[in-house]
Amino acid sequence: MNPLTLRVIRDEHRALAAMLRSIPLLLAEHRRHDRLPDFAALRAMLFYVDEFPERLHHPKESELLFPKLRARVPGVRDILDRLDQDHARGERAVRDLEHSLLGFEMLGVVRRDAFERQLHRYVDAYLRHMELEEREILPLALQVLSAEDWAELDAAFEANRDPFTGHAPGAEYQDLFRKIVAALPAPIGVGPAL
Ligand SMILES: [Fe+2]
Ligand SMILES: [Fe+2]
Repeated sequence: MNPLTLRVIRDEHRALAAMLRSIPLLLAEHRRHDRLPDFAALRAMLFYVDEFPERLHHPKESELLFPKLRARVPGVRDILDRLDQDHARGERAVRDLEHSLLGFEMLGVVRRDAFERQLHRYVDAYLRHMELEEREILPLALQVLSAEDWAELDAAFEANRDPFTGHAPGAEYQDLFRKIVAALPAPIGVGPAL
């Protein structure tokens, strides 16, 4: 059994992880050549995180998937509490990072170190969050949830349609995705290799 919900969650994790891992590489490349990064592309990437994972992926985990696991497996409560806390802080964390990027853009290299440090912390924490879900939560869900649970979850997660997981972006998102894809290296984008 390979429920649609788990495929959607894993696909979205994979796409987001690829993008998040590319950002420090992009920044390092610009730093090496002593030039400023493409701020518009970086803004587009952070805006995407705020617009898709923060609004679609995390709320559905916290509101639909996690409560079902809490009800069936009391021993997993501590991990779910931690993941829920990450979700609750996620929007604020990405907004803070966007603000730090704005500082770099407005004030120049004097703010480069601070932004890059904050970005590394953000990316590390996000990758650890997704790894924890994949290691502890998704296999457990597969063991304990019923066919009715999956039908309910699949109906909700099927609607996510994150453009980085193979869905055509809606009209309003086309420019945003074009910008991101142009800046990122393969396989996620078509920009120069890093
Ligand atoms: Fe999550
Ligand atoms: Fe997740």
